[in-house]
Amino acid sequence: MDIRVLRPSDIPHVQLANITNLPENYFCKYYLYHAMSWPQLSYVAVDVSRPPKTPYDPPKIVGYVLAKMEEDPSDGVQHGHITSLSVMRTHRRLGLAEKLMRQSQRAMAETFNAHYVSLHVRMSNLAALHLYRETLGFTVEKVESKYYADGEDAYSMRIELADLKEQLLDEQEAYEDEGEAVGDEGTEEERKEREEKREKRKAERKMRVRVGRNKGVMDLVEKNEVAAA
Ligand SMILES: CC(C)(COP(=O)(O)OP(=O)(O)OC[C@H]1O[C@@H](n2cnc3c(N)ncnc32)[C@H](O)[C@@H]1OP(=O)(O)O)[C@@H](O)C(=O)NCCC(=O)NCCS
Repeated sequence: MDIRVLRPSDIPHVQLANITNLPENYFCKYYLYHAMSWPQLSYVAVDVSRPPKTPYDPPKIVGYVLAKMEEDPSDGVQHGHITSLSVMRTHRRLGLAEKLMRQSQRAMAETFNAHYVSLHVRMSNLAALHLYRETLGFTVEKVESKYYADGEDAYSMRIELADLKEQLLDEQEAYEDEGEAVGDEGTEEERKEREEKREKRKAERKMRVRVGRNKGVMDLVEKNEVAAA
């Protein structure tokens, strides 16, 4: 199974998966808007066990996450939003939804410095609730009454990205230290200078993470996208 970024040519297949799995459906142009505006944030799971026979065969898309950055956040805090997520019945319980979500969250933090991720889920959707709450660590922010077109209430959920950002910085630091260890040559003075620079970078990174934490705890007021659509 491949998890890769959504391409514009995938959109009809993603739209088909969405119509098959969920009652909340969107025009093609809405998918394209996501892919064009935030190309790093939406992913597809492709079953590559039976590769296409000709270059014209479509990829077998068995899951997707459609995600964006909130364009006009009412709380003023830069954050991502999951517009839609689903996995075909034939490919569920394989960890695909978790992987799709983690990829998107990572890209939100890395590319857009998102402070948190928000989403809506039907209160009756136990599978999705387990994924969001137990597996990924989202928390319920509030209940949005009659959020869905059929009158069902939604949980508005969110996850802070401070821990993930810290993990990304640690990974980057380890990578850079590894690179510098190779060049551990030169005079005592040069080595000392390199060590000082490394320490300075570490201190700067820690300060950046603290800023994110402070900003991420403000109240969340979200728009009802379904009602607006
Ligand atoms: C919700 C959905 C995306 C989960 O996809 P998936 O690929 O099967 O999920 P994963 O395999 O990554 O499982 C993630 C976790 O959820 C759990 N889970 C998945 N389906 C479950 C179910 N039906 N009941 C209880 N738990 C479930 C898994 O056991 C796993 O938990 P673990 O980390 O404790 O082991 C999928 O069921 C789906 O597409 N549903 C229809 C569309 C939908 O509801 N989308 C969400 C809209 S908000």
